[in-house]
Amino acid sequence: TTDYLRHVESMKKFPSGAGRMAHLNAVILGDALASEENDLIFPSEEFTKQALISSPEQYLEMYQRSIEDPSGFWSEIASEFYWKKKWGEKACSENFDVRKGSIHIEWFKGGLTNICYNALDRNIEAGNGEKIAIYWEGNEPGHDGCLTYNELLEKVCQLSNYLKDIGVGKGDAVVIYLPMLMELPIAMLACARIGAVHSVVFAGFSAESVAQRIVDCKPKAVITCNAVRRGPKVIYLKEIVDAALIESEKSGVTVGVCLTFENQSAMKREATKWQNGRDIWWQDTIPKYPKTCMVEWVDAEDPLFLLYTSGSTGKPKGVLHTTGGYMIYTSTTFKYAFDYKPSDIYWCTADCGWITGHSYVTYGPLLNGATVIVYEGPPNYPDSGRSWDIVDKYKVTIFYTAPTLVRSLMRDGNEYVTRCSRKSLRVLGSVGEPINPSAWRWFFNVVGDARCPISDTWWQTETGGFMITPLPGAWPQKPGSATFPFFGVQPIIVDEKGNEIEGECSGYLCVKNSWPGAFRTLYGDHERYETTYFKPFPGYYFSGDGCSRDKDGYHWLTGRVDDVINVSGHRIGTAEVESALVSHPQCAEAAVVGVEHEVKGQGIYAFVTLVEGVPYSEELRKSLILAVRNQIGAFAAPDKIHWAPGLPKTRSGKIMRRILRKIASRQLDELGDTSTLADPGVVEQLIALNDC
Ligand code: WTA
Repeated sequence: TTDYLRHVESMKKFPSGAGRMAHLNAVILGDALASEENDLIFPSEEFTKQALISSPEQYLEMYQRSIEDPSGFWSEIASEFYWKKKWGEKACSENFDVRKGSIHIEWFKGGLTNICYNALDRNIEAGNGEKIAIYWEGNEPGHDGCLTYNELLEKVCQLSNYLKDIGVGKGDAVVIYLPMLMELPIAMLACARIGAVHSVVFAGFSAESVAQRIVDCKPKAVITCNAVRRGPKVIYLKEIVDAALIESEKSGVTVGVCLTFENQSAMKREATKWQNGRDIWWQDTIPKYPKTCMVEWVDAEDPLFLLYTSGSTGKPKGVLHTTGGYMIYTSTTFKYAFDYKPSDIYWCTADCGWITGHSYVTYGPLLNGATVIVYEGPPNYPDSGRSWDIVDKYKVTIFYTAPTLVRSLMRDGNEYVTRCSRKSLRVLGSVGEPINPSAWRWFFNVVGDARCPISDTWWQTETGGFMITPLPGAWPQKPGSATFPFFGVQPIIVDEKGNEIEGECSGYLCVKNSWPGAFRTLYGDHERYETTYFKPFPGYYFSGDGCSRDKDGYHWLTGRVDDVINVSGHRIGTAEVESALVSHPQCAEAAVVGVEHEVKGQGIYAFVTLVEGVPYSEELRKSLILAVRNQIGAFAAPDKIHWAPGLPKTRSGKIMRRILRKIASRQLDELGDTSTLADPGVVEQLIALNDC
């Protein structure tokens, strides 16, 4: 309980009552000259009064219990859900220490439940059947729709029945490659209802990436749509799936069914290429199925979904989440971190193709019976005010987005924001990368009119749900800090040797002991799971992030410490981009690093060595970028190609990325020791060629 005590000490310092307001005023008036670290921004009295967790003491009491008796703490919460059969005696069993054998995490084992039942049927039985579950907003303003909980359940059941009919059963994988249509959460829930394992692939991934995922998880069916409009562009998703299916067949994986939604506003069915026998139109088929479907009761530890994410090495990892713990964790984190009330209208701008969309568009909010906005288009179409138009149109109360969006809208000017009322807003949220204090302030002052606390939630695909996050009514915030751990989470900061460091410090962020939302394995590769996450610092889960803790116990995330870059909140492995580049016939070698980028957070900077005798040209630069777009997706396209006649390597042939990062960010006086390089002259050459 050292953590607990640390929090008590730090929270005792917070002034209350008038002190809070005085401080808030100082911040708004801009005379808070103190450093970010000393800058406390308090929730208003009004907010605190109605908050679910309204004081540090209340948090500390619950936090202490969650750490001292995790099984009891989470069991109590889990009891509010429907269980066909209750779990065994102890809610949690785990081995979290590689030195004691294989890593093994179980929550609510033996319990039988169903997450779709808990999200839909349970809320309907509680009288919410006529409540809006999803407001759907199309790419074009004015194009919209909605579903009540009753209607959503019917749609889900029809699809579940179809999936069963084509032989999809418990444990079978289904790949979903859909944009932000209502059909995306419907498809996820339909799989969950019958115990099938969904693997949603973000609809910005290329055919090659889709194929790679299909080959890995061998789905019984793929669900897609013919096309989608993203702003002014039309993207032909079905063609990408067609190509992916041809590609995966080369690896011996054949998928029998491609269920295709006709997204009429983007493309008519007549224009869609079709393979009879395999391809099925959603609209012709699904509505014929019964609107009720029996639930498949699954063990809490049965898999719910696979989601592929990037790591330090080439191949994306299939992060596996199971049912019971994930259900309890996403719903509880959603409730407290956003101070959720049944009257809220909630909008998360993330795509369901990423973990944020899984946990906080689909599962977390719907488990709480919330009304969710699903938006098809980009946030700045037809202009930069679109997000705020949507906020006003639906009277959004909780708005959850990424720093990259905040920064890009901030750059476009305040007029787009202030032309909208936004008075419905009461809580803001941020996720995906550290939010820089200036973006934080703009979000707080301009978007939220200095009224709305910001929940800067730190978490990962692997963690399933929020790990370090403000509880908006409970304590003051510091712009740019994710603040304190959520219930049940024990963040530990360690030095290179893996020793825990106490007090004010900075190091590698790890977690001690499991939490219900933790991933259980990497699909088909438990060894990689242990090696990547549990071996670097034995006894702990290693996040891959750097973090510092200030004198008040606040946590400040400092970004990835491994070879993963975070571009607009999207995780991209440098190795993946490198392997896409070297697949280009004229590329001999490539080294990719992240550089600071004003809007995207990090940009992708690629050093490329061409095959002997090939001259560098603008055309070649474009075709190298195209290779990455084709292999991964447009979002992974390098921002800069730096021609490198040679790369700085140690005598043993290892690329010195540290030096490349400095060159990329033009910190040339910080190159450090280059004497250990096999050929120190390479560095001079690279610097000279920077402007190619
Ligand atoms: C980063 C997204 C700072 C971090 C939910 C992490 C953040 C990676 C924050 C996971 C935050 C996410 N502050 N950094 N609030 N949220 N990150 O798996 O580097 O796509 O390791 O999950 O995003 O990215 P992922």
